[in-house]
Amino acid sequence: MTFDISKIARRNILGLEPYRCARDDFKVGLLLDANENTHGPSAALSAREESLELNRYPDPHQIELKQKICDFRNSEAATKGAIVPVPLVEGVEKKLTPENLCLGVGSDESIDALLRCFCQPGKERLLVCPPTYGMYGICAQVNDVELVKIPLKLDDFQIDKEMILSSVLNDPSIKLIYLTSPGNPTAAQIDLTLFVQLLEELEQNTWHGLVIADEAYVDFSPIGSSLAPFVNKFPRLVVLQTLSKSFGLAGIRLGITYSTPEVSLLLNSMKYPYNISNLTSDVALRATTPEALAKMRETCSTIVEQRGILLKNLLELKGIGKNRGGLDANFLLIEVLNKEGNPDNEVANNVYNYLATKRNVVVRFRGKELGCTGCLRVTVGTEKENETLVEEFREALKRYN
Ligand SMILES: Cc1ncc(COP(=O)(O)O)c(C=O)c1O
Repeated sequence: MTFDISKIARRNILGLEPYRCARDDFKVGLLLDANENTHGPSAALSAREESLELNRYPDPHQIELKQKICDFRNSEAATKGAIVPVPLVEGVEKKLTPENLCLGVGSDESIDALLRCFCQPGKERLLVCPPTYGMYGICAQVNDVELVKIPLKLDDFQIDKEMILSSVLNDPSIKLIYLTSPGNPTAAQIDLTLFVQLLEELEQNTWHGLVIADEAYVDFSPIGSSLAPFVNKFPRLVVLQTLSKSFGLAGIRLGITYSTPEVSLLLNSMKYPYNISNLTSDVALRATTPEALAKMRETCSTIVEQRGILLKNLLELKGIGKNRGGLDANFLLIEVLNKEGNPDNEVANNVYNYLATKRNVVVRFRGKELGCTGCLRVTVGTEKENETLVEEFREALKRYN
């Protein structure tokens, strides 16, 4: 079915004229048009910060940064051995361009923006697949958008494609499907063939909505796993990524939304014009040089290697059950057992609290999430941090087991 954005986006957003900032009109000259302070910053700045002209508003469009991000993702899609299903590779008609991108203050901003763009408060709904990232529910509640929950299959944390399809096809008020791949807290990538089948089946139907693939952790999966290069092939697909994880830049707050130029235009029209600060774009530009990208890949490989070692060492401890989640992200979802050998929330919570309050080692209790009874989510750290973690776990487990 042809993609008709006017049937998907909210009417008030479709008619939005983007805010036109002073710099859209004139870029050079004696710039006294934006009520900036031309005396300069009041804080003492480093030479680098001085060079960023922090007394000026940032560039609302960030084309240079967007281009560098596109070049990187296009290059990875073309990598030999990219693991997206083969028919999809043949279907790449157009490479990503800056028109496919909207940048945000982390992907948390993008999650909220999509809701505001597409879901009418009090009327339309959002589909999520628990256990999943908590911000979808929080943004939905803030925007008065009801959640429809179709749990992941709890044996392998894969999506229930048939249930998702029947839900959205029977309920036109569902406008967005949020899928996390790799998942949080599941650490499991959604099988790409299944994902593509879902997209293909939705393209053939009359559903007026979008599927959002939140790929915050995708760089810890094999290279070529990202669906971002396919937003031009599947107009109902939106992909979210972030510099917070693989790039090690959670502090700069930079999230990326990939979508068709039509969707992207709406998202760019509604965002706050200056959401990406000069400081953020300066660091992000340095993070997308070929050298920095090579370093990012190298760090991801190290984390993946460490993930294997950490898992092996944790599984050898008495009181640890199995790895409940997948092996596609920079964390593990580990079962903590009681004396009877069953995953147990009380024991897991005790271990978690003891580690945090007595041993200064902080992991995350996830036992209350669907299908995660007795589970702790453990981020893979450096080699030394992981060794400390295992030793502390060993001692903590002895106390409660
Ligand atoms: C699945 C998922 N999406 C998005 C985010 C938020 O990322 P950002 O730092 O870009 O806002 C997180 C953070 O933990 C996450 O786990």
